[in-house]
This record gives sequence, structure tokens and C-alpha cells, in this order.
Amino acid sequence: MSTPVRRQYLAIKKRFPNTIVFFRLGDFYETFDEDAKTVAQVCDIVLTSRPVGKDQRVPLAGVPYHAVDGYLAKLIGAGYKVAIVEQVSDPKESKGLVAREVVRVVTPGTVVEPTLLDERRNNFLAALTLEDRRAGLAYVDITTGEFATTQFSGDDAAQEALQELARLQPAECLIPARPDAPERAALRGVECPITEWDAWRFDVQTAREALLQHFGVGTLAGFGCEGLPQAIRAAGAIVQYLQETQKAALAHLDSLTTYSTSRFMTLDASTRRNLELVATIRTGAVKGSLLGVLDLTRTSMGGRMLRQWLLQPLVEKAAIERRLDAVEALYNATPQRMKIRELLGGVGDLERLTNRLAQGIATPRDLLGLARALRRVPDVAAALDAILAGLPGGHPLAALRDRLNPCQAEADLIEAAIAEDAPATLANGGVIRPGYSDELDAIARASRDAKQWVAGLEQRERQRTGIKSLKVGYNKVFGYYIEVSKANMDRVPPDYVRKQTLVNGERFITPELKEYESLILNAQERRLELETRLYKELCERLATARGRMLDTGRALAELDVLASLAEVAVRNRYTRPEVAEDGIIDIREGRHPVVELTQKDEPFVPNDVRLVPGEGEIIILTGPNMAGKSTFLRQVALIVLMAQVGSFVPAQRAHIGIVDRIFTRIGAQDEIAAGQSTFMVEMVEVANILHHATSASLLILDEVGRGTSTYDGISIAWAVVEHIHNHPRLRAKTLFATHYHELTDLAGTLPRVRNFSMAVAEEGDRVIFLRKVIPGGADRSYGIHVAQLAGLPKSVIHRAEELLRELESGQNGAAIKPRAPRAKQLSFLTESDPVLQELRDLDISAMTPLEAINKLYEFQRRVGKG
Ligand SMILES: Nc1ncnc2c1ncn2[C@@H]1O[C@H](COP(=O)(O)OP(=O)(O)OP(=O)(O)O)[C@@H](O)[C@H]1O
Ligand SMILES: [Mg+2]
Repeated sequence: MSTPVRRQYLAIKKRFPNTIVFFRLGDFYETFDEDAKTVAQVCDIVLTSRPVGKDQRVPLAGVPYHAVDGYLAKLIGAGYKVAIVEQVSDPKESKGLVAREVVRVVTPGTVVEPTLLDERRNNFLAALTLEDRRAGLAYVDITTGEFATTQFSGDDAAQEALQELARLQPAECLIPARPDAPERAALRGVECPITEWDAWRFDVQTAREALLQHFGVGTLAGFGCEGLPQAIRAAGAIVQYLQETQKAALAHLDSLTTYSTSRFMTLDASTRRNLELVATIRTGAVKGSLLGVLDLTRTSMGGRMLRQWLLQPLVEKAAIERRLDAVEALYNATPQRMKIRELLGGVGDLERLTNRLAQGIATPRDLLGLARALRRVPDVAAALDAILAGLPGGHPLAALRDRLNPCQAEADLIEAAIAEDAPATLANGGVIRPGYSDELDAIARASRDAKQWVAGLEQRERQRTGIKSLKVGYNKVFGYYIEVSKANMDRVPPDYVRKQTLVNGERFITPELKEYESLILNAQERRLELETRLYKELCERLATARGRMLDTGRALAELDVLASLAEVAVRNRYTRPEVAEDGIIDIREGRHPVVELTQKDEPFVPNDVRLVPGEGEIIILTGPNMAGKSTFLRQVALIVLMAQVGSFVPAQRAHIGIVDRIFTRIGAQDEIAAGQSTFMVEMVEVANILHHATSASLLILDEVGRGTSTYDGISIAWAVVEHIHNHPRLRAKTLFATHYHELTDLAGTLPRVRNFSMAVAEEGDRVIFLRKVIPGGADRSYGIHVAQLAGLPKSVIHRAEELLRELESGQNGAAIKPRAPRAKQLSFLTESDPVLQELRDLDISAMTPLEAINKLYEFQRRVGKG
């Protein structure tokens, strides 16, 4: 026989078998049974037990409700989901068992707690569907209200969807739970937390119905996804999932955008990584990435938007020009730009604040933040007006200006209602400002009067009784009391009622004192109730302006991004690129945006590049190690990408023919974990490029073929360049860096291939890197020189030089067979031979002739003679 609470718990737990249930009991969230064991372990808290019936105890672990965020973070981080069960009826009013309900299920994609979120990144929940050559992908960020869906079709549908998924980097991705689900197979090896969910939720009819019902519409045409079954399946699954996990978030999800990835430049995961757009390869940090350079945003919502922009460059000329126009206007208007950036510094996260308001989880301080943000809007608008005054009509900044809605009435309301120094929560009152509600003020007045009466009591009673040491005090157990010391006991008046005996005295109460006390305590309780009600009403009223506020927030975020790009352009001397649709890339004095800032000991040397389709679109770049080939390749890709993001670029002049995709194949990465060898990965990437590149693409190939033997490598590299050059669909603009000097011969046979190399100067046996890209091929790699710089042992360097000379003079047969130097020589010159090492280290000038002869004898003995 178990207790009623236990039965209530088990009934709820049954509905959430794979979820940890946080069961609210008073001031704690309790977990039981297996859940308790998990929580105790993951959160490092004590596992106890609790009686649940006669002679029956179950494991128990509880966390205090006010500190729940930290525990949620740990559990979510460890891959668990948590169902929050609250008491939904007032324990004071309900007879018997308090009603309890699951109010939300916290999953990685549906968290709203600020401590669980990264301010500068969106937290996406995604859903993926795949079905005969079609794919659907939808995503939502419930902290910002962004909800979008898209569909892909064709042979590459699945791959394109995965690429989009990789861009979004969702915190959680829903797929149908079916043993044969193609989604599961497709996501194998992809780094993305998956939630398998009832497959029927993804049925197009169910999903469509869920969307129609949620938005209260009769057709999805208004959202642009009618007739896109995969887009509907994915979006519908998300809506249903939120219904189960996060109802509050659903309420303010009032629109759905259907988008097409064809409006954006496609960047595959390895390209994003190779170009270090938002994180460095080595450490994964933002610092040192392109985002690290470009992000001077003043708000976290701006930071999130810039990040999205970098991962999603545009391909439409008009759209790019609009951004560039806006950046240019801000670039030119330095005083206003400074003003705007200063104002934005105090705006905070209007986007997330608004959503917290709409979800009913905004704290009093959130509201104050909201008001503060809104107060800045008129000044921002004024600064924009000042810029617009000097610009022709229809300027993109004007459209942005129009989206700014000051919402001053809402700001007024907040300021009138919320106390300036409001506490972080409603728990202890003091949130509502005096003067906002007559009722609240009356309560406060009564309580104040009562308190004053109590405060004056000590004085009055001392006079009445003549007891000078009489004291009035308060404690939690007895409330207010009058304390009299033993010595004065005879003077205690008859109306005093004894309550407590102390060592040195007695504590008393009077009926009147108790009356005032209950007035004070009642007032506190009533005040809390009233404040809670007023606060809720206020939030509801404010939430009706959610749309306007959100729009304003997003406009401010965009302005923040544009102003940041303008500011970076000024600070780093960028110029506005000329964007065109002619396919020509012509950059003068281009620089690498990151290296030019991080490289301290040597000035950055700018370089030109010119790629003209049909004339010379393929560049073979040779040159010594460490000369700057890879830097140059990335620099060209980054400049093109920045231009298409709408940013100014690090160059003296840049003409950028819009590219549809940038492909990169750079360096060898360790993919052993993914079960593929280095060379295999390289070849998979090259295959991908050759299959998907078009004549509008930009290809960055850094030492393709180097992961295998020289002959194989050269042959592959050679064939790849021929293929790019000759295949009618390809003819992509290509930069190919290589140490295979043989490839420079290609320029002789393929008319649109050009040779370039990195200039070096030799000074004696020193090599000086000039960092300049010059026409013509290089003939040497100076690899040994670099090895020496890197600190390889001298003996190794010498030996390498010797071998190189031999190889170059062809002494050992074919030049590219470094394998078989003369056996005898090797046996003597084995690097590990201590005699050799000693011989090298011998300081002959410090020896007498006799010592030298002795040493020689010794050596002879040690190598086996005598
Ligand atoms: N234009 C430049 N101006 C100044 N320094 C540069 C320039 N380009 C590259 N460097 C510096 O040279 C270093 C090596 O450059 P990079 O890695 O591009 O050489 P690489 O030719 O690709 O060498 P490897 O053949 O070994 O791959 C960079 O880390 C950078 O510090
Ligand atoms: Mg390199």
C-alpha cells in the first residue's frame, strides 16, 4: 500500500519514462527511484531514501527549487531530459492532495534559463525529415521566437539538408523514431544531439493539422510552405514537440518563415571550419576566427545575428548591395555611428527579453531591462534620422529606421509599475513601485502604521511600567514580544501574558500587540499576493506589444551588426567591394583579415589576385614552405565571403563577381575518430567538390594529393586540375597551392591555367620570404630550410641536404626515389651511432695533437677495428 503522493508520482512518471522527473514538494524538486540515483550521481548530491508506505522506502534525491538552474544545466549537459512537475493548486486551499502537473520538459533544444544559454549564440531545436529524394528541415529558437522551415529536393537533398543542419548547429534535432528511419542513417557520424520521437508525429497530415491548429489558419499558403510536404512535416513535428515540452514557448510562436537555401551561399561544414569563420580549428575559440575580428557588436542579439550572417553569405546582388549601402552610410557618419554604438551598449538583449516576457518568465529586472532598452530607441532613431537626412530616399537604413518602434507607452508603464531597485524575484515583494496601485499603497500604509505603533511601544511601555530596561523584540517562533528582566518582574502590569521564560527574564505579549502583529503579517501576505497579481497583469498587458518590441529588437540587432561592420571597416582600413555578376574576382592589395591583425613581428604583405572566367580562372600557386601560400588562398576566400556578407573587405580595391559556393580542401585533419584515414578524408572532400562545384564556384585547394605517395599525389592533383579546367559544368575559379612543381607544366597545355609563386630572396644560405605572389612557377620548396627554422637536429638537416643533392643530381636513379641511398654509407652514418655524434661534437681546436691521435684510435676500436 503506498501513499497518495507516491501514486500521483508514479502516474506522472509512467508518462515520462525516458525523462528525469523533478517532482515539486514544497521548496524542493524531489526525484525518486532510478531518477534519484542518476541525479545524485550527475549533480553530485546526497542520495537518501523516503518512506512511501508501510515498510517501504525508495531512493530520493532533491534539489532546492530556487537553485534548480544549476542542476538542470548539469543534467541537460549530461544528455538527460527533465520533466518539471509543479504544484498547480494552492496547498493552503486544496483539501487533501495538492494537484500536480508537468509544466514543461526541459530538453537541450527547449531551455530558456539564461544560465543554460550562450548569449551570443542561438539555441536551435531542429527537426529533420527525409523521404525519396526530398528532405525537410525546420528549426526554432524559442528564446528569440525565430521559427523557419525549408525543403530540399533532388539527388543531393539529404546532403544539402545536413549541410544546413551543420550551419545551424542545433542543440537538439528531432527525427522520427523508426527502425528503418533514413534520418538516423543520414545523421550517423554527424555531430548533432538527436531526439527520436514518435514517427506518427512526422506524418504529413498530422504535422499539417498541428500547424493549422497552432496558427489558427485554414491554409499554410500564407507561410509559403503549402505544397512543401517535407517542410511541413519538419515544422509540424516541432510544434507538436513544443506542445509536449514547452507550452509557454508555443504561445508566442506566431509566425513561420519558409526559406530557401538557394538565397544563400552554400558552405559545407569543412569549408566553414577550414576558413575559421566562427571558431578556430585548433582551439574552437571565437578569438582568432573571422567572427572574432568582425564582431564589435554591442548587444548579444547583434552578436547572434552577425554569427548567422557569416555562416550564411548572400548570393543576390541587390541584397548584398543593400547591406553594403547601410554599412557605407554608417561608415561615413562617424559621430552618429559612435552615438548609435554607445546607445546600443545599453540596450541589452531586447529580443530574448521580449520573449521571456511573452513566455511569462520575465523577472522584475528583465522588465526594467526592457524599459531601459526601449528608452534608448528614440535616441537611436534620431541618430539614424541624422544620417538619413543626407541620403537619397529609399535608402536601406530608412527601412530599418521604420522598423524601430519606440514603445514608449510600454516603457512608461514599466517604469511606473516596477520599483527601480526591484529584487530579482517576486518571492519577497518590493517589486511594485509605490503609487502604482492604491490598494497596494493602502496595505503598505496600514502595515507601516502598525510597524510604527510597534516601534513606539517600547518607549510607551517603559513609561507606563517604569521599567527602564524593558525591550520589544521579534522572533520567528513567537512573533513580537515584550522582554522584562528578572529584577523588574514585580512591576509587570496585569495585562501582560507570559510566553517564554529566559535565564535572566521573561517574555510577554499583550492582546493589542498581537493584533498589530497580525496586521503586519497579514499585510505582508496580502501585499505579496497583490504584487504577484499586479505583476502578472502588467506582463500580460506588456505582452500585447510583443510584436512591436520584437520587431524593434531585431531592427536594433541588425543595426548593431551593420554598425559593427562599419566600425571594423574604419578601424582596419577596409574598403567597400564592388559586387558584380560577371564572375570576375579582381582584388588589389588584399590582406588576410585575421593574420594581418595577429601577426606582430612582421608587417603583413598585401597581394593581388585576378581570376577571369574563360581567360584565366585557375591559378597554380607554388613556392617554399612557410612562404604564405595557404594564407593567400584563405585570404581570397575570406574576402569574397566578407563581400557577400555585406561587409567591407581588407583590400585596396576589390571587384567580386558573386560566387554560389566556396569549396575548400585544406590541410590534413585527423579524422581517425570518424573512422576514416587522412587520405580518405581528403579524397572524399575532393570528390564532393568535383561533383558539386559549378562555374560560379570558388575552389580553394591546398596541397591536394599530398596525403599519399608522391607519384600518386601528383597524378591525382594533375587530373583534378584537368577535370576542373575541361569539364563544361565546372570551370570554377580555382586557387591550387602545391609543392609538386611538376604541376606548373599544366599551364603549358591548359589555356586557362596560370602559374604564380611566392617570391623569395636568397641571401647566402638564408632564405627570405617576401610574401609576394608573383607570376611564374617556383622551382624549389626550401623545405629543409624550414625544417632548420623549426629546430630539427642539425645532423638530420645535414643528412637531408646531402640526400637532396644526391636526388637532384640523379645519383640514385630516378629523382623521386629517396629510398635507397648506398647501403654501406647508411650503415656507417646511422644517425644513432654515438661515434658519429661524438665525432661531430669534437672540438678539434681545443685538443693537443696527442689527444687527437688517441681519440682516433679509440674511434677505430669502437667501430670494430683493433
Ligand atoms: N602576406 C603575408 N604577409 C606577412 N606574413 C605572412 C603573409 N602570408 C603568410 N605570412 C606568415 O607566414 C606564415 C606561413 O604562411 P603559410 O602557412 O600561408 O605558408 P605556406 O606557404 O602555406 O606554407 P606550407 O607550404 O608549409 O603550407 C603565416 O603563418 C604568416 O605568419
Ligand atoms: Mg600551406
